[in-house]
Amino acid sequence: MIIDGKQAAADLRVALANEVKALKESKGITPSLTVVLVGEDPASQVYVRNKAKQTMEVGMISNEIKMPADTSQTALLSQLALLNNDASIHGILVQLPLPKHIDESVVISAINPEKDVDGFHAMNSGRLLNGEAGALVPCTPQGCIILAKQHLGDDLSGQHAVVIGRSNIVGKPVALLLLQENCTVTIAHSRTKNLPEVCQQADILVAAVGRANFVQASWVKKGATVIDVGINRIEADSSEGKGSAKAKLVGDVDFDAVSEVCGAITPVPGGVGPMTIACLLKNTLEAAKLYG
Ligand code: GUN
Repeated sequence: MIIDGKQAAADLRVALANEVKALKESKGITPSLTVVLVGEDPASQVYVRNKAKQTMEVGMISNEIKMPADTSQTALLSQLALLNNDASIHGILVQLPLPKHIDESVVISAINPEKDVDGFHAMNSGRLLNGEAGALVPCTPQGCIILAKQHLGDDLSGQHAVVIGRSNIVGKPVALLLLQENCTVTIAHSRTKNLPEVCQQADILVAAVGRANFVQASWVKKGATVIDVGINRIEADSSEGKGSAKAKLVGDVDFDAVSEVCGAITPVPGGVGPMTIACLLKNTLEAAKLYG
């Protein structure tokens, strides 16, 4: 079975649009998201455009602040201070990656945790770790859980989840969310010994390594639920393309082969990717409800 992330994201946006409408009517609050983009990275420009479009579609206010690539760290921090102090703004997202001369961790720490809709601030990761209320949780990991539940139902207790990857953005937070769902969680990474054998234990396998087609069919237990977080741009096979080789997107999982053994799998594109922006909107609504 293929888990349709595009449909799940569309369904979530419909639910969010209804909640946004209700919040406006009951409290007179319209959730508002400001995205800060430094420089002109083409992939980031596409992300930011999609975010703005979807933010407005669910009835929220979308602002974009574009700053030149040579913006100093001090100037970016001053801009963030203005946004932190503006009560009409509920969510702030600084698009990553930032230009090399800017220290991302300093910038993330400068965002008011109550407006940190990426959930990257240490206050929010600490709250997630401690299982405290009020955490804004990173978007892609939230999307992974929603998609796993779509196939397995709401109760994930006792499932053995193996997460490949230990990044702050995906691997670590998704492992914590799975633990919160009462899964038995293994975090595997580049130094893990016998990775195929570790993966074979997984009832839920989350791949977040950033290596095209890395996870092989022989690593996957029959019937497992496979969540592929990878987005890797590779040269298309010229036999598939029309004429010249074009780039195509593939996940961290060898989709065709793994589909034959697993119980369910998220495709790339159209799996976890669309859920990330939908969960960003969910966090913006959450921030407006909690702190607006
Ligand atoms: N760049 C790519 N994905 C993301 C994301 O989820 N958040 C931010 N801030 N930047 C990104």
